[in-house]
Formats: sequence, structure tokens, C-alpha cells
Amino acid sequence: MPCSFESAESGKEGEMSYQRIMVFSGTAGAGIAREVCERLSIHPGERECGRFSDGEVNVRLGENIREADVFIINPLHPPAENLLEIVLLSDAVRGSSAGRITLVCPYLGYNRQDRKDRPRVPISARVISSILSQSGAHRTLLFDLHSEATMGFFDPHIVVDHLYGSAVSLPYLKGKLVNDFVVASPDKGGGPRAEAYARRLGQDDYVLFTKSREAPGKVRKGSVKIIGNVEGKDVLFVDDMIDTGGTVIADAWAAREAGAKNIYVYATHGLFSGNAVKRLDESPITEVVVTNTIPHAPEELKTSRVNITTLTIAPLIAEAIRRIHDGESLSSLIS
Ligand code: R5P
Repeated sequence: MPCSFESAESGKEGEMSYQRIMVFSGTAGAGIAREVCERLSIHPGERECGRFSDGEVNVRLGENIREADVFIINPLHPPAENLLEIVLLSDAVRGSSAGRITLVCPYLGYNRQDRKDRPRVPISARVISSILSQSGAHRTLLFDLHSEATMGFFDPHIVVDHLYGSAVSLPYLKGKLVNDFVVASPDKGGGPRAEAYARRLGQDDYVLFTKSREAPGKVRKGSVKIIGNVEGKDVLFVDDMIDTGGTVIADAWAAREAGAKNIYVYATHGLFSGNAVKRLDESPITEVVVTNTIPHAPEELKTSRVNITTLTIAPLIAEAIRRIHDGESLSSLIS
């Protein structure tokens, strides 16, 4: 992936041109923003991101941003303060006369609730998109959405770009898959993603694992069915996220019973809620590969058996920022 940054001084879009790139972040986005800034050879924007004494979010910019091309990075996993920080920062940036504002959300929370699948439930993905749309931003940059339909929930004045973790995961996974292997999807919805990975990894087809669930993250015992052959092969499951781990763990056991050898799991977003890490450690999975769209302290990912590898998407974000600033296409970053 190309990562050269010849100019961080001025950019243009149509007739508009913008001054220097500035990158700010919320609390959860601070680590990845630092990496992105290093790649762009700029300093992270100065800001305070704290709490008032009653717990309300308190943000303040620490430098002049007039006419700048501002990027605000924050992943939107719980707590809800992550969302509040990015929209309040956006409002502060807007009110401080930035030239343009782009919200960079490595992980877009509430994206799984994208339709009214039961009576009396909200369409949460639409609500979150609407809040972001009203924050004063001009653009948003999203990664591996669970539901791509969500892009249509943003107000029409917001330009939505969507990139995939495959730009960073495929080179790593290629190095792992040295034996006979298949790519697998944990559900029908993930079929197109698994198919794309399979093609990029030189396979004609993918294996589908279907299942029924008792509740989100809880797979009904014995319900996993495999459409395809995994016997004697290494298996790479690809998914958008690992939350409780319930889905991939049930699939891994089914794969092992069907004669799979090494079992790899790639998911762009590692939420690892509850005791997911412990459960993954006790599963037959050989290695779990995620990216750093959601930050975790090293001790949170400590295991005694399974390898949990975290790849950084900072180079992808930095290159996307550089191209947006310079008015270049992002399409070759979509792999
Ligand atoms: C489901 O549609 C998603 O793509 C993931 O498979 C799911 O959200 C993972 O959740 P968990 O790890 O709790 O099974």
C-alpha cells in the first residue's frame, strides 16, 4: 500500500482548497491518532478531552484551526462518551472556523441495529448517523461497516467514504496460510466478505457456516451446519467483528469436529466484550487477528494459548487522510 506524504500543506476539492491538515482525536482515538500523525509528519492537534465534575464531557481545542483541513479520529464503541466526544469536538472545530471537517470513525458503534427486525425497537444505526450528520462535519470516513446500508442514513450533505481492513489484513494473512486452506464465513450475511477474501487469497470459493441463535452472541448448541469441506485443511474465518466470541467459537468447534487443522479468525473490529478473550483462549482457534480500530490495553488481550494479533490500520487512515486532503481518489485503497 503506498504511503508517501509529499504535502500536508494544502489540499483541494472541486473549487475549494484547504489549508494544512490537522488531526484531533477523542480519548479512545488518541493512540491511533498519534500513529497517524507520525505517518503524516505532523503533531496531533492540541485539545482537552475531560469530564465536568458531574461526568459530562468537556472538550476544548488548544490551538488555532482557522481554515485548516481538520480530521477528528475517534472509535465509537461504548461508552457513549466516545460518540459525545467526537460530536462535541466537531462542533468546537466548526465554531472555530475550520475550512473542512472530516470525522474518522475507525469503528462505528450501533451499526448492527440497522433495521426494525422486531416490533418496538429503534433503528439505532440511523440515529447515530443522524447525530454525526448534525455535528457540523462535512465528511466521514468509516471502516468495515457491519451494515453498508448505513451509509444511506447519513444526511446527503455529508460525504461518506468506506474503507476495509483487508488493506492491512490480507498481506498478514497471506503469510499465515501456507498449507491447504479454505476461507469461511460465519453467516450468510458475511458471504460477500468471505468471497472477496477467498478471491484475493487465490481461492475459487468459500465455505459457509450457518447456525441459529438463542440470543445475540449465543449460538444454539449443535445448530452449526457447514456448507463446503474443511477436512484436512486450515480454515480462515473472516468476519467484521468479534464481540462475545460466541459466533466464531461455535464455528471453530464445528470446524474442528469436521476435521479442520489450524483455525484462524480475522475480524477487523475486536470488541472482546465480557469474557470473550478467556473463551477464545479455551477454544480450538489457533490465532485471532484483529486491527486496532478499538483500542485495548495489552493486559486485556493476555492469553495463555491462543495468539491474538493486532494489526494497525493507522497507515490506511493516514493514506486516506492524505488523499482526501489532496483531492485524490480513495478507490485504490479498497482491496
Ligand atoms: C454478526 O452478524 C456479526 O457479523 C458478527 O458475527 C457478530 O456480531 C459477532 O458477535 P459475537 O462475537 O458476539 O458472536
